[in-house]
Amino acid sequence: MNSSDGDEELPEVGDAPLIIDVEFLEEEDENLAPPLDSAEEIRANRSRSPMELPLSLPTPEGRARVVTVINQKGGVGKTTTVINIAAQLALRGFRVLVIDSDSQGNCATGLGVDKSRVRTTTRDLILTPETAVDSRHATAVDNLHIIVGDKSLIGLEQEMMRQLGREKRMKEALEPLLAHYDLVLIDTPPSLGLVTINALVASDGVLVPVQTEYFALEGLALLAGTIREVRSLLNDRLGVDGVLLTMHSQTLLNKQVAGEVLENFPDLVVRPAIRRNVRLAEAPSHGVPIHLHDPSSAGGKDYQAITTELQHRWGLS
Ligand SMILES: Nc1ncnc2c1ncn2[C@@H]1O[C@H](COP(=O)(O)OP(=O)(O)OP(=O)(O)O)[C@@H](O)[C@H]1O
Ligand SMILES: [Mg+2]
Repeated sequence: MNSSDGDEELPEVGDAPLIIDVEFLEEEDENLAPPLDSAEEIRANRSRSPMELPLSLPTPEGRARVVTVINQKGGVGKTTTVINIAAQLALRGFRVLVIDSDSQGNCATGLGVDKSRVRTTTRDLILTPETAVDSRHATAVDNLHIIVGDKSLIGLEQEMMRQLGREKRMKEALEPLLAHYDLVLIDTPPSLGLVTINALVASDGVLVPVQTEYFALEGLALLAGTIREVRSLLNDRLGVDGVLLTMHSQTLLNKQVAGEVLENFPDLVVRPAIRRNVRLAEAPSHGVPIHLHDPSSAGGKDYQAITTELQHRWGLS
């Protein structure tokens, strides 16, 4: 009984509108499909906009340039770059401060500093900015100081959550030090946490080491998004000082990826590409930068040339 009542409410099949109307669909398709040119334009815009990396501004007069070395992708040569550019500039007479904001603490090892003897670290710099001056340590290289990162940075982000102005602690801490250096170079972990955000807020520019392997451009797109957000919310001065091609070999893949990065960022790529070179990988085990380990190696020469180019970009003469 009930089911026949319900059936009576349904329209007769003959009255129901046609579901498939070929002519209508064809017309719609034509309207929806944009001409080839504009389809390509849209695709080009889509792939271009997330990759926009803003150029950085010059350093304000009378203080150090602050530069964060960053790539959220791991193992691309961030720490190697920090150690060797910092050491090269110090060797050339510039006053350089390295801040290691990675709990792996590899900058200290690579610069011959025994972490087990260090009492004050980047953790202290961030939690008690007024102690910044005392957080520094000398290294094996003249003119080069370091604030050491170590495992005490693990868990710091949780503690900072309760603090006001938590993204600006490092900037505040660095303020009294800036007049005493030409360059402050900050190493970051391969993740985007509050400590890395602190580094970006304190910085004039970023240097981006990119390993010329597959996924390099995805890493750059991720970073471009991070920079956009930090610029709009926390530091509108932040820009890119340079993109470095690292661990480069003459393989087809390496060459193709280098070509793509150059095509996307012709003005940002700093030349030459840094070659894959075992001397660079060995140097940290001796606690020295490449210029003390083997300056005439391919890695030694590449970092010297890169440093010269950056010296111009940073206005250090
Ligand atoms: N040009 C190079 N040639 C050969 N080996 C290199 C080169 N650059 C870096 N390495 C080696 O590659 C490894 C990763 O480098 P590095 O630690 O600098 O990367 P990272 O980006 O700091 O890593 P993480 O994301 O873990 O902090 C290290 O063992 C380093 O010695
Ligand atoms: Mg590192």
